[in-house]
Amino acid sequence: MSIHKEVKRVTAHTLQWMKQHGEKISMLTAYDYSMAGIFDDANIDVLLVGDSASNVMAGNETTLPITLDQMIYHASSVIRAISRCMVVVDLPFGSYQGNSKEALNSAIRIMKETGAHAIKLEGGEEVLESIKRIISAGVPVMGHLGLTPQSINKFGTYSVRAKEEAEAAALIKNAHLLEDSGCFSLVLEKIPATLGKQVAEELKIPVIGIGAGMHVDGQVLVMHDMLGITKDFSPRFLRRYLNLYEQIKEATEHYIADVKAKAFPNEQEQY
Ligand code: KIV
Repeated sequence: MSIHKEVKRVTAHTLQWMKQHGEKISMLTAYDYSMAGIFDDANIDVLLVGDSASNVMAGNETTLPITLDQMIYHASSVIRAISRCMVVVDLPFGSYQGNSKEALNSAIRIMKETGAHAIKLEGGEEVLESIKRIISAGVPVMGHLGLTPQSINKFGTYSVRAKEEAEAAALIKNAHLLEDSGCFSLVLEKIPATLGKQVAEELKIPVIGIGAGMHVDGQVLVMHDMLGITKDFSPRFLRRYLNLYEQIKEATEHYIADVKAKAFPNEQEQY
């Protein structure tokens, strides 16, 4: 049985049910009202208002510059569009690493000012106290391990993480700590598929992968990548379902040509 289209509201319980019954979880990023509405109508399970907005919406090289106010703006726009899916919002860099009180205040601002259903933050042991504090205030938390883009200056590259035994062991340990601290799910980014499989099998909570292989409990992609709006980003894990970059460019060229040729508007397209 599949509850994908049956359920009126996707919650943390729905995702848990999906894991237990082997139904894969679908997740995409969204940052604005119009796209979020389309994804929700298509019955996406989870929308992530990712701090990748810093890259794909604002054109920054990393996720570091985006602010809490900007995340709240994006999340509010997404929330106004949806009626079924669960909406998770990233805590941006600098809004939770200081201490657990700061982390809680940031999470509360997101929940109060956007109406989102949960928050996501990056890291393991080092952010555990913050995670526990946020959860005890009633805010569901999604963890994020593996390639954590907010730490890009520590890693130095966006290459595959946890290929070495020591880093893989640390990731497994952190995954268990996140589950034990009460996270309702976990994102694993750009790690070997065998490690993704092991973590998904060991944890009871749903594990959602981006470049973590086929054995995890669900998949997430950045919407601009899935739709082919970005064209220079081609990691192995990415499948493009459209080539919107070319289609939008062609449509725009067609429009420009029509305007220049006085072919738009025509008699029927004016008052
Ligand atoms: O910000 C984001 O888009 C993310 C996904 C890559 C999981 O965190």
